[in-house]
Amino acid sequence: VKKCALTGRWVNDLGSNMTIKILNSNGDFSGIYNTSVSATTQKIIPSPLLGSQNLPNQQNQSTFGFTVHWSFTNSITVFTGQCFVDNDGKEVLRTMWLLRSRVESISSDWKATRVGTNVFTRLQLQE
Ligand code: BTN
Repeated sequence: VKKCALTGRWVNDLGSNMTIKILNSNGDFSGIYNTSVSATTQKIIPSPLLGSQNLPNQQNQSTFGFTVHWSFTNSITVFTGQCFVDNDGKEVLRTMWLLRSRVESISSDWKATRVGTNVFTRLQLQE
């Protein structure tokens, strides 16, 4: 069975891309997330991500989660998902996310969190 590894460059269904590096043997990783869209009007800047995954050497198609700390605004997104090898042998990350935006007061808390899904595939470098 082909392995599904998180490290490398990925693009999602929105056209956002990210680069993941495996940091250590615990499965902790960091990377850079470059979103194609924003809920804000700020100029988009590539932003750091920090996450961890279950180690894929014991079990393939591992689960993971990561946080994106947006550099250009005061929101946070958490993603969680699983790395799969699909029927064509292609690696795919199926994720769900929560985007927390900052609101001025507790009375606006109800509208501060968005939810969605993203599917990531490997970014093919063209040079
Ligand atoms: C913000 O607008 O507050 C920061 C950027 C949020 C981008 C979101 S995170 C979930 C979704 N998936 C993406 O690739 N981009 C959007």
